[in-house]
Amino acid sequence: MESKKVHHNWFASWFDSPYYHILYSNRDEDEASDFVDEISEYLNLKDGSKILDIACGKGRHSRHLNRLGYNVTGTDLSEENIKYCREYENDSLHFFKHDMRRLFRINYFDAAVNLFTSFGYFEHNRDDKMAIKAAAKGLKKNGKFVIDFMNVSKIALNLVPQNKSTIEGIEFTINRSAGNNFITKNIQFSDNGHDYNFDEKVKMLTLNDFKELFNHASLKIVDIFGNYQLDAFDEKTSDRLILVASK
Ligand SMILES: C[S@@+](CC[C@H](N)C(=O)[O-])C[C@H]1O[C@@H](n2cnc3c(N)ncnc32)[C@H](O)[C@@H]1O
Repeated sequence: MESKKVHHNWFASWFDSPYYHILYSNRDEDEASDFVDEISEYLNLKDGSKILDIACGKGRHSRHLNRLGYNVTGTDLSEENIKYCREYENDSLHFFKHDMRRLFRINYFDAAVNLFTSFGYFEHNRDDKMAIKAAAKGLKKNGKFVIDFMNVSKIALNLVPQNKSTIEGIEFTINRSAGNNFITKNIQFSDNGHDYNFDEKVKMLTLNDFKELFNHASLKIVDIFGNYQLDAFDEKTSDRLILVASK
């Protein structure tokens, strides 16, 4: 029943489309590598430690973690993303199509990461709980979970209602709104005579919401950062909400 429903969700089609990657093409490899360097120095894991990259996208963080000497598994719901990632597989870098709400492996990883707002897509809170629980179950005892989410307090106050940008010859019109506990980004454009219209909907999860979710999954928060340089989180000024928890 569940898997049938999944394909009607916006996140199943939008992230699988080439246009998502065109629109976000400036979210590049260097940004990912720099952040991964910071995080891996902070986590201080042994060489060869097992890391799970949940909702890995095209694998930019997974690939860099692997370059640093870790044994990395990336999972994502998008078939297209996983197909792309598989080109980079090696003995210590693997990718699987997988829905984060489902259990993947049990008591297996030294760390799990979920990066660049790859959470908050589900309508129902029970799905959020399932996803965090599945991440926790995958960790060994004392394993670390890192989630990098937007700081909704700042984002909601600074929402740019509309802007247009042309990337690779496609003019994207983006409308943003906040309501019903979601930030919605409506994305419209035409390409090859077709009109497209996608919604990106991310739940306005606050630090308190994550505290509850983590509590429910028996994860203990050990640090809270507010940007990719790992400065302390400040609700008013931080761009990101980056939580580190321990099993
Ligand atoms: C904003 S992108 C970020 C991708 C990657 N972490 C990065 O930073 O490049 C979010 C990703 O979440 C994936 N995703 C959405 N829903 C998912 C689900 N239920 N299970 C696993 N992955 C999912 C999408 O396919 C997409 O690749």
